[in-house]
Amino acid sequence: MKSTAMRTHMCGDLTEVNIGSTVSVCGWVGRRREHGEKLAFVDLRDHSGVIQCVVDNDVDVRSEYVVRVTGVVRARPDGTVNENLATGRVEIGDCVVEVLNSAEPPPFPVDQRADDVDEGVRLKYRYIDIRRERMQRNLRVRARVNSAIRRAMEENGFLEVETPLLMPSTPEGAREFLVPSRKDHGSFFALPQSPQLWKQLLMVSGVDRYYQIAKCLRDEDLRADRQYEFMQLDAEMSFVSQDDVLEFIGRAVTAAAEAVTGEKPPTIERITWREAMERFGVDKPDLRFGMELVELTQLFASTEFKAFSGAQSIKGIRVDAATYPEAAAYGRNKLDALTDRSKKIGAKGLVWMKVQAGGAVESPVAKFLSDAERDALVATMGATEGDLLLLVADEWMTTCEVLGQLRNDIGRPPVHEGPYRYVWVTEFPLFVGADPVTGRPRPGHHPFCHPHPEDIALFDSDPLQVRALAYDLVLNGWELGSGSIRIHEPELQRRVFNILGISDEEADKRFGFFLQPFKYGAPPHGGFAFGIDRLTAILAGEENIREVIAFPKTQSGADPMTNAPTLVEPSHLADLGLRLLPPPAGS
Ligand code: AMO
Ligand code: AMP
Repeated sequence: MKSTAMRTHMCGDLTEVNIGSTVSVCGWVGRRREHGEKLAFVDLRDHSGVIQCVVDNDVDVRSEYVVRVTGVVRARPDGTVNENLATGRVEIGDCVVEVLNSAEPPPFPVDQRADDVDEGVRLKYRYIDIRRERMQRNLRVRARVNSAIRRAMEENGFLEVETPLLMPSTPEGAREFLVPSRKDHGSFFALPQSPQLWKQLLMVSGVDRYYQIAKCLRDEDLRADRQYEFMQLDAEMSFVSQDDVLEFIGRAVTAAAEAVTGEKPPTIERITWREAMERFGVDKPDLRFGMELVELTQLFASTEFKAFSGAQSIKGIRVDAATYPEAAAYGRNKLDALTDRSKKIGAKGLVWMKVQAGGAVESPVAKFLSDAERDALVATMGATEGDLLLLVADEWMTTCEVLGQLRNDIGRPPVHEGPYRYVWVTEFPLFVGADPVTGRPRPGHHPFCHPHPEDIALFDSDPLQVRALAYDLVLNGWELGSGSIRIHEPELQRRVFNILGISDEEADKRFGFFLQPFKYGAPPHGGFAFGIDRLTAILAGEENIREVIAFPKTQSGADPMTNAPTLVEPSHLADLGLRLLPPPAGS
């Protein structure tokens, strides 16, 4: 029921069905247009939409006044129908207008998308910004996502459990926000980067299927897909395989997407991390466009071209002139810029070739290639006249990373555009590279991910080849979420710590509060968390998660509306046992 003591209808709900009825609507005054000597058209807005009210000219209502209008719904005269508006065939006439509150002129117009309004101003007056249709719509998309997720999780037997915001500092990767203790000076709580610790303990507690729409906090540099505070759908399950977790999380994501778009996404594809790197050069592949990486190492196995001979991996991408018409016309500056970019990412150089009619190539290195190599290259890449080929020779990881970045730079559409392409990336490496200080492998995700059972034999001989039962969900090139099957066996956990260079004593000291409970009967378990802000932004057609958060922080981590973060009274600091250091020199 939408009616209240003050209104019978919402503005946006009035249609020809209501013609002849006396209605009361409440809202904010939008545009006003004078109509002859005696009358004025006033647009009245609430969150549901806008209705035109015909009022006496002498009624003093201005932009953003809050009013109640009572009148009779009637058809608009011919020629004044607005087909772009849901209520565009009707208006309210014979209006009695009650001003419930006057308003100062708003800092920016509310009745347009206001894309040209400076974001700082929008955030300073966020309460007005949220009156606009774009933000109203986005908040409603968000609520629909949350409600669909909740329903899906509950239908599948997950229990919602709330977990603490004040907790000890934990090793999860990002920088934590700390909260000083008033009762125990010098001690701090940390705010949760995620409920990871708690949800695993809930598995030890026999909760079996846990979920939470959880607030998480990380002190990271902010970007389009990152805020200090964000929301996760966080879930954990006992007695499951990786397939089970992907199935249940897939259902929640699918339900959310369907609730917003009205269309059920197709079954989410899966690729392994290695395949993602081989084909797309990144671990969050954007499947909306081609330009896949092509392995060319064998093709150049006996080349005389110095830069290629002896390389561990040679890969190329084809910038297809049919899809990227400018590729053929890339001038020297653009090609030099691509080379510089490749070197910044880690390449020793970049070979470019423009393919010409009949399979000839124009390239600074064309003369170093044999005719057979050139022909085989053009054929393998499937290149035709006007295409641009970009080649890199290096270690496997470098060729993947460099060409993966170039592929994204050149071909990637904005995240919210085009079809939704979801993909599970599985079998992430358990360890990555060496720690610059200890020389030991570092954890790929976190040290509690279960190794792939087929790879346990490689633990001591070749740890970097060990795969984890760890997986990400990717949508249009954004990481939506990640998870893993966890280690529940203390002995295996000890072996992983040892490879990371963490002794048993140190593990007890750093993670004892987490490891101890596992001695009391921990079931096999695994889980996942995905970013609700990210999913909502893409579904709402937005490129920045700020647009789907009611009160976000700016890129520099501030809130222009409340001015937070702010200084606090010295007495407040003293209560907490804190004193400020002078600012560092030069700041
Ligand atoms: P992870 O750290 O990968 O995993 O985070 C999961 C998802 O949370 C979202 N996310 C963010 N969204 C907005 N702003 C941020 N600063 C931000 N940081 C992360 C992303 C990301 O994919 N506990 C593990 C999950 C698990 O293993 O179960 C975790 O938090 O969408
Ligand atoms: P050089 O032999 O260093 O003069 O390089 C000749 C050309 O090959 C230049 O265009 C370099 O950018 C390119 N090049 C050099 N090393 C590599 C490499 N490892 N992969 C791809 N291109 C390279």
